[in-house]
Amino acid sequence: MIDLTINKTGLEHNIQKAKENHIIIPTIAQMQNPDLIPEKIKAKLSHTGLWDVDPVNLFRISWHNEAKEQGGLFQAVPNYVEIPSKLSGVPCRIIAMSGKWFPTGCHKVGASFGCLAPRLVTGQFDATYHHAVWPSTGNYCRGGAFNSKLLACESVAILPQDMSKERFDWLKSIAGQIIATPGCESNVKEIFDKTWELKQDPTMMIFNQFAEMGNPLWHYNVTGYALAELFEAVKKPGQNFAGACFTSGSAGTMSAGDLLKERYPHLKLAVGEALQCPTILDNGFGGHRIEGIGDKRLTDGFATGPAVFEDGFALGIKAVDLLDHGGELLFRGGLADGEAVEFVDDGGPPVAQAVNNRFPGGTPQDVQEDAHVDDTGQ
Ligand SMILES: Cc1ncc(COP(=O)(O)O)c(C=O)c1O
Repeated sequence: MIDLTINKTGLEHNIQKAKENHIIIPTIAQMQNPDLIPEKIKAKLSHTGLWDVDPVNLFRISWHNEAKEQGGLFQAVPNYVEIPSKLSGVPCRIIAMSGKWFPTGCHKVGASFGCLAPRLVTGQFDATYHHAVWPSTGNYCRGGAFNSKLLACESVAILPQDMSKERFDWLKSIAGQIIATPGCESNVKEIFDKTWELKQDPTMMIFNQFAEMGNPLWHYNVTGYALAELFEAVKKPGQNFAGACFTSGSAGTMSAGDLLKERYPHLKLAVGEALQCPTILDNGFGGHRIEGIGDKRLTDGFATGPAVFEDGFALGIKAVDLLDHGGELLFRGGLADGEAVEFVDDGGPPVAQAVNNRFPGGTPQDVQEDAHVDDTGQ
């Protein structure tokens, strides 16, 4: 599935570069199970910041990170938030696994690792010759640029010009080159038009998450295992794993659903997309502001047959509801002003309380207009 042909010269260059920069690449088994990470790596992590540009942070490409900005190690149960029935309005338990405590604040750092690592360890990508090109609306490109920097590889980030200022500001400090293409979250085609141009230059190696098998394979092997572990840790007697819901961009994350379906065959899978860009639901298109998902394409990831299409659901998420009525929705269902929700939280303030403190009289119009869901889903 992944081309593992060795390029001897490239590999020699990469090994030399790794030695010079003290780079140790973690294994997938270590990403699944942090107990396998050597003590000397953990000792180094204990005085390294979560987002530091330090190769040791490759070991934090893990769902098991402690919820700490500085010096965190690992925990058996991945970080999660439980959505109380009072908010959801349904009696079943809803657990959301949190990607906030990955470096970059998003799990896409794992997907991009899954794409770059095979080319690096085979020598097909030569770190002394190639640039790693990361086309994406944001989190994949941020993850790719971050990993490239940790792995001493040159990188090029390509993303739409309308993405948030925070994304561009941070990328300036990480990526070798940034290219802004026309449009917003929905304008993936424009990004790929640009990659066709770049491809003429043989030093540019494009890491297209929509076609790289490293993306779904990383999620199957790492995200899928983490979700199963999380369920086993939180389940109470008599409870079963009824369903798993993913939001989809490249359909890499959804591959975790394939692993879950193998382990829990009765479970239903669902995939969410912005209703303003209903590609799966209605072969449709349009602009929306949920950063990270949905872009008018059904990808190679879907073509590999994620189990969601066997007997799953597609969900339309109204971006406008999240942005304009987020606070209102949180308080519906009986929460009084100022009342905090009991979250099994990963370190952040309870969401309802944060929204309420910020906008005690309801979300003002100008904030609604400017709002976007940021890289950590806030
Ligand atoms: C926060 C977030 N959630 C979900 C997704 C969608 O993941 P995938 O591309 O694996 O379908 C992305 C993609 O960038 C994302 O950034």
